Order: sequence, then C-alpha cells, then structure tokens
Amino acid sequence: MKASVKLGLWLVVVAAVSSLSTAALLQARDRSRELPREVPKSPPRGVHLQSPQLPSDLVVKTHEETTRAIRRGERLWSDRSLGSNGQSCNMCHPDGSATHPETYPKFKQQYGRVVTAQEFINWCIVVALRGPSQELGGEVLTALEAYQAYANRGQEMEIGAAGP
Ligand code: HEC
Repeated sequence: MKASVKLGLWLVVVAAVSSLSTAALLQARDRSRELPREVPKSPPRGVHLQSPQLPSDLVVKTHEETTRAIRRGERLWSDRSLGSNGQSCNMCHPDGSATHPETYPKFKQQYGRVVTAQEFINWCIVVALRGPSQELGGEVLTALEAYQAYANRGQEMEIGAAGP
C-alpha cells in the first residue's frame, strides 16, 4: 500500500475514534447536569480524590447509606409537617434550587457569622416554615443537606459567594 494511502486511512481512524470519545464525554457531562428525578444507581461521576485502596464493602456501604440520606431528604423536601404554616422547602426551592450548597460555609447576616449549610437550613425551618429548630447533625438536617447538595451536583465549589 502506498504511504499516502496508509496515512489517509490512519487519519480516518483517528478522526472516528476522537469524535466517538467526544460524544461520550458530552453525553456524560449532560447526564451529570440533569436535575434529580431519581437517586443514582451508580456512584457519582466526576473527579474524586478518594483512595483507590478503599475496601470495596466500604465503597458499597458509603454509596448505600448516602443514597438513603438523599432519598430521606428528598421526601422531607416536600414535607409540610416540618413546620407549622403548611409550607415545604419545595414551595420556595423547587428541586433544591436557590439553596447554593456549593457556597457553604459562608457568612450570613441573619447569624452575623460564618455558618454551615445545616445551620442555614435550620434558619429556613424556623423562620420560613415556623417549625421547631432541628438538631445539627441529626437525621433531618443531614438528610436535607444531603438532598440539596445532590440536587445541585455539578456546580462548582465557590465558598463564600454571596447569595441568594
Ligand atoms: C417561604 C419560602 C421559603 C421556604 C418555605 C423555605 N425557604 Fe429557604 N430561603 C428562602 C429565602 C427568601 C431565602 C433567602 C434568605 C437568605 O439567603 O438570606 C432562603 C434561603 C435558603 C438557603 C440559603 C441560600 C443561600 O444562597 O445562602 C438555604 C440553604 C435554604 N433556604 C434551604 C431551605 C430549606 C432546606 C427549606 C425547607 C426546610 C427552606 N429553605 C424553606 C425562602 C424559603
């Protein structure tokens, strides 16, 4: 075969492979930006700094337990009994919107100091829902935090960015 024909064939192969992998990458990116209708069946995609040496049963347990917390949070998100005025998070923050978990911890004027996401969720429970304050690190706040973080996955971390 002539050298120029060989080179031509190679170029065709290289072009085909690279367009396929670009398509796969774009698809993966689109998927990671979809809004959460359902909690994922596979572990989150993206760049993680976890040790590759984690025992596999710990990896599975981490995924299962976290998924449980996200699901619990998703249910609580629409639960009108968290407060006393018949409202739920979802009425003001549909699908976890406008919660900006990627900016926490940050300064909030309501507290006059830097607060964690759970502390500010509690502010909305007490002030927006007229509900009882929840225990930091307790099931309710942890589940709500897990859901709002999951619902906003793909956002870039930008600690301290002013909101809302
Ligand atoms: C009646 C409407 C309303 C309801 C219901 C409500 N919120 Fe909010 N939420 C707001 C408003 C308004 C703000 C903006 C206040 C601010 O950030 O200073 C806010 C801010 C937040 C923020 C901070 C956003 C940021 O950028 O700092 C979080 C987190 C949050 N809400 C979570 C929740 C959760 C979780 C619930 C349910 C337990 C909830 N909210 C229920 C109105 C509501």
